Amino acid sequence: MGLAAITGTGVFTPAHVITNDELVTAFNAYADAFNVNNAADIAAGDVVAKDHSSSDFIVSASGIHQRYVVEKSGILDPQIMHPALPPRSDDQPSLMAEMALDACTKALAKAGRGGAEVDLIICAASNHERAYPAIAVEIQELLGARGFAFDMNVACSSATFGMQAAADMIRAGSARCAIVVSPEVCSAHLEWRDRDCHFIFGDVCTAAVLEPEEAAKGDHFRILSTRCATQFSNNIRNNDGFLRRAHGQMQDRRDMQFMQEGRRVFKEVLPLVVGHISDHLADAGAPPEGLKRLWLHQANKAMNDFIGRKVMGRTPTPAEQPNILQDYANTSSAGSVIAFSQHSADLIPGDLGLICSFGAGYSVGSVLVERG
Ligand code: COA
Repeated sequence: MGLAAITGTGVFTPAHVITNDELVTAFNAYADAFNVNNAADIAAGDVVAKDHSSSDFIVSASGIHQRYVVEKSGILDPQIMHPALPPRSDDQPSLMAEMALDACTKALAKAGRGGAEVDLIICAASNHERAYPAIAVEIQELLGARGFAFDMNVACSSATFGMQAAADMIRAGSARCAIVVSPEVCSAHLEWRDRDCHFIFGDVCTAAVLEPEEAAKGDHFRILSTRCATQFSNNIRNNDGFLRRAHGQMQDRRDMQFMQEGRRVFKEVLPLVVGHISDHLADAGAPPEGLKRLWLHQANKAMNDFIGRKVMGRTPTPAEQPNILQDYANTSSAGSVIAFSQHSADLIPGDLGLICSFGAGYSVGSVLVERG
């Protein structure tokens, strides 16, 4: 069996930007109105008053300066506080498929391939707009692709788990030209009314084309090895599942949006990720000092600084461990692929790098690549 290679990547970036200051202004107006409307209950001790958010806190706690979103007016309206997206008829492309089409088209252009050459699409994302038909099958139709397509969800690790699945299928011969596409509409499952997390997420879509290395038409990254791991935790959770109606839980409940114990995630995920990457590199015979680049999951700058230091045994330069979270915020599974897509063109043949994503599950996925 030959090796699989990443032969092209593409990023769809939504048109709307929300800066921290815009976000905080909207949140604080919402909090003030909430406190006025609930003044009696707050005074009686039955309801907790909402504190203001602050841009300084957001930057120092996360490193995030702004985020892209598919719709911003609803998010910034203190009366709404979520994206306001018009519903689409079944005859229209779904939002995720539309974002995916843009990212896939860019990735295929880089790979020198057309949609008709694709024979596998994995739509790997942390939420899917509907249960079925799979979004991936709709993307297959829009691209004019052949073969087969399916959705998968491993939260923030979806893209790297998808790459392992696609690379394995390419090595086994069941696919020749695969796309792993990650349309992440995080703005729709973020709780914008909670100051502990309202700054965390943004929207984006990434796509990566994977082919047998010998089929690559130009510059590519050969996939030397992949590694995935999971370990159950409730510390990042969303309960908006299909049993909601059956449970009589159709009301606007906090746990229908993203919830996390941020501090515990920090403490528990960091050693998991450091151990995972170190073991992966050791087993692949690729010592960290030989790594030219680390494209990490983009949740939090302090987290990435810590992981980079531990893995490399020194503080990596910003060029060695590029962050994009200051511009995009946490884009769930797409973050490490944006970093890879935007910060890999300067590597030369033989250079090694590692893509790693991590998050809910817990889950960690890593892809060791060499510039071909
Ligand atoms: N503005 C101002 N103050 C805020 C605030 C905001 N928006 N949000 C929280 N605070 C306050 C808290 O109430 C707390 O106050 P206290 O000390 O009086 O109790 C203080 O700031 C610290 O809050 P804390 O939540 O402990 O901050 P943190 O340093 O842990 O940073 C995260 C929060 C979410 C950025 C951080 O925990 C994190 O990134 N965790 C991991 C996230 C992650 O990777 N998740 C995976 C998702 S895929």
